[in-house]
Amino acid sequence: MNDVATYQLLDGKRASQALRERIAAEALEVKAARGRVPHLAAVLVGDDGASRTYVESKVKACQSVGFRSTLIKRPATTAEDELLHLVRSLNKDKELDGFIVQLPLPGHINADRITLAIDPRKDVDGFHPENVGNMVLGLPGFLPATPAGIVELLRFHHIETAGKHCVVVGRSNIVGTPMSILMSRNAYPGNCSVTITHSRSKDLAAITRQADILIPAIGRPEFITAYMVKEGAVVVDVGIHRIPDATRKAGFRLVGDVKFDDVAPKCSWISPVPGGVGPMTITSLLLNTLKAAQR
Ligand code: GUN
Repeated sequence: MNDVATYQLLDGKRASQALRERIAAEALEVKAARGRVPHLAAVLVGDDGASRTYVESKVKACQSVGFRSTLIKRPATTAEDELLHLVRSLNKDKELDGFIVQLPLPGHINADRITLAIDPRKDVDGFHPENVGNMVLGLPGFLPATPAGIVELLRFHHIETAGKHCVVVGRSNIVGTPMSILMSRNAYPGNCSVTITHSRSKDLAAITRQADILIPAIGRPEFITAYMVKEGAVVVDVGIHRIPDATRKAGFRLVGDVKFDDVAPKCSWISPVPGGVGPMTITSLLLNTLKAAQR
């Protein structure tokens, strides 16, 4: 048995860096043509630690490509009507190309109502039903950031996808469902036979073991173990979880939905956490914002 790992990393940092250089150059072209750089706003309701971290990284990423960004914080007690009012004012703001409302929202706010209120032309998260419909039909629109980022990560590493069996674990509106659509469309990356699995799937391991490309997006730390993965598979880990760890300065470490050290030796390619899908998600948001500004 050969213990030397032969897998390669799907490197989200490197892929992001390359894409961000292109985005920064195009941002300058937008400035030359329109007199201002692309502008993204992020709305954060409440004080959930993880959401704050994500939103702050999105704002920081804007700076890295020369975009303007605005962070709008509201208390957890904000009424749904107040948030709707804010969304409508952002829809009308001519200085703003796109905005996102970070999810999850506090329980008393209906997230679907908020998403529906966002102008699809400013919906750089790609969550509005009009953008979801455009994606399903293959029409122009904003793709949701995480699935679009994964597509770009596969493209950057020239991963072969046509004819492969792609298994997506998780059926969320944000990742699992759109991912399954993008991997099955007639495009590169795409042209996969796709299976989507979820919490009611029977004998999950029997399905995941058939995957040439496995995309776990279930939100359970280190759920996918070597037993569930086929030899030579490409594994794209969407999960990101903070695990308490007293040996780390931050007091926690980050892990994905995949038990990395266990699974990696079986893979041809695998994305790390952190440094895999995470940076790509943010880069996709920048790409969508650039597209909104170019319209
Ligand atoms: N929460 C987790 N992921 C996302 C995302 O991509 N966009 C927003 N708005 N909220 C999220």
